[in-house]
Amino acid sequence: MPMNIAIDGPVGAGKSSIADRVAERLNILHLDTGAMYRAMALHMIRNRVNMQDEQAIAAACEEADVQVRYEDGAQKTLLGDEDVTGLLRSGEVSAAASAVSRCPIVRERMVRAQRELAARFDMLIDGRDIGTNVLINAPVKIYLTAAAEERARRRYAQQVEKGDMTPYEKVLADLNMRDEQDMNRKINPLCRAEDAVLLDSTEMSIEQVVDAIIKVVEGTYGKRN
Ligand code: DC
Repeated sequence: MPMNIAIDGPVGAGKSSIADRVAERLNILHLDTGAMYRAMALHMIRNRVNMQDEQAIAAACEEADVQVRYEDGAQKTLLGDEDVTGLLRSGEVSAAASAVSRCPIVRERMVRAQRELAARFDMLIDGRDIGTNVLINAPVKIYLTAAAEERARRRYAQQVEKGDMTPYEKVLADLNMRDEQDMNRKINPLCRAEDAVLLDSTEMSIEQVVDAIIKVVEGTYGKRN
């Protein structure tokens, strides 16, 4: 059975960057499931689908071909033949991803693809419903969170570095809006699995969080080199 590690948590908890480092240290792949919902959202934006119209989302979802590939261990997210990895991080795509992820057909398709990948490869998988739905029997489950203000502060600092001057208050408001949507949707809302280890990174450095996760993994799988 492949090694499967599930990491869930809210917006900006640092899941992606932490998951990248943990996966690198363990020499396994990292599946960023948010990128799959984001690619689906990009398809909807390009096709001018009304995000409030579940039927329109469901119909457009049938035409979208979201795929994941790995190049030198790094995830590439594809829409059909197009590598859209670099187009998925805008505010517009983030908001649309949260909206499309409410749609049952979208979730069904994404979850099926994620389970297929997890059954084939040693992987660390991050998202919102990995430990509670996608891989309910994952041997290691982590719920990674931090105070909303701290998550917004980190996101704001990242954006400033990239030249995006969106004010902190707006970053915090957007983050709270997405959390609210992700935690209260009808299907597979974000919540901590009962058997997930809770890690609150508010006062931890990235290295400390990475070390803490490796320790949990080693407790289950033993040391790897
Ligand atoms: O992790 P992220 O911010 O890239 O995710 C983008 C959106 O996708 C998020 O707001 C909710 C949705 N998502 C989801 O519903 N289930 C997942 N497993 C991963 C992401």
